[in-house]
Amino acid sequence: MEMTEIQFFDTTLRDGEQTPGVHFDQNEKVQIAKQLEKWGVNVIEAGFPIASKGDFESVQAIARALKKATVCGLARCVKEDIDCAYEALKEAFSSQIHIFIATSDIHLKYKLKMTQTEVLETIQEHVRYAKERFEVVQFSPEDATRTEWGFLVQAVQTAIDAGATIINIPDTVGYTNPTEFGALFRHLKEQILQFDEVIFSTHCHDDLGMSVANALAAIENGARRVEGTVNGIGERAGNTSLEEVAVALHIRKDYYQADSTIVLNETKRTSELVSRLSGMMVPKNKAVVGGNAYAHESGIHQDGVLKNPDTYEIITPSLVGVEKNSLSLGKLSGRHAFLTRLAELGYHLEKSEAKGAFQRFKQLADMKKNITEEDLHALVLSQEVEK
Ligand code: KIV
Ligand code: ZN
Repeated sequence: MEMTEIQFFDTTLRDGEQTPGVHFDQNEKVQIAKQLEKWGVNVIEAGFPIASKGDFESVQAIARALKKATVCGLARCVKEDIDCAYEALKEAFSSQIHIFIATSDIHLKYKLKMTQTEVLETIQEHVRYAKERFEVVQFSPEDATRTEWGFLVQAVQTAIDAGATIINIPDTVGYTNPTEFGALFRHLKEQILQFDEVIFSTHCHDDLGMSVANALAAIENGARRVEGTVNGIGERAGNTSLEEVAVALHIRKDYYQADSTIVLNETKRTSELVSRLSGMMVPKNKAVVGGNAYAHESGIHQDGVLKNPDTYEIITPSLVGVEKNSLSLGKLSGRHAFLTRLAELGYHLEKSEAKGAFQRFKQLADMKKNITEEDLHALVLSQEVEK
């Protein structure tokens, strides 16, 4: 079966910067954009140029700096937004515009105060206007997953007829689940004649903790672009973590029959850079990039990993740029892990010595959570003194 290449659209610098408390200055944005390019993402949403002078200038600086990745700017269905994005992006080697308007009843009634007919007219007018300035126009019906499906199809069809070649389906408030989101993509595939000619994209939020699963469900059902951020930063509970999607596609290639241009061994470096510049610490137990993602605690697991890492590791640490796994020594550790660690420190104990040392190690481990390198030196040396 043929592999489908999934485009990665990174919005760390736009939706990611919508994380409360996070602000990147222009230099930091350029630094992140260059690392994203190195990581292999296809499109970088560099900002929302109309939002502020600073955002405009950052998008412009990124457009000038990148040589490979496409640079994208966000715009509402407002001509000034589109003109502003055009100005910010005009020097890019490759650019796209991303225009959006909400389509759910709740947004139409309370936020936009528009009828469905008015929204369709606005989509038509502004996608056409954008198409006169950009070769590639991406359209997003905001709050798509809370939009009545019949109207969503009309909105998407209107955007395609007006010239959009990428349709992004946002789960703006993280409301959907994988079964429902997959069904929505299948419905769009049935209803939109040009489904395979245009690129359908997925953009999920993590309010119910399902954004990665939802993105993967969309990919299973025809999405060919995935939007998200590094480390999943973003508005409220955040966005789809792109590093998780990239690694899931790679590890489960057999299942998804899809791949990407992501340079996987740049993953950890990319995550660390975004964490440092955003001030958002990566939780230790976070998939793929968390500090504990390649750490083994229980004796049974440690023994298995020492015999063959495949017993308890589906991701080889070096795949994502992590130097090696770690076997933390504590009360659950077994003799195998203990003696291996001692050997790494240069202590090769006789069988009889090993037995006593292991007993003393267990006594110590009952008193403290983690046994450090210093503890191990002390343990062996005190045994030698007693001899
Ligand atoms: O979550 C959302 O709906 C967005 C749009 C601008 C695509 O970020
Ligand atoms: Zn979003």
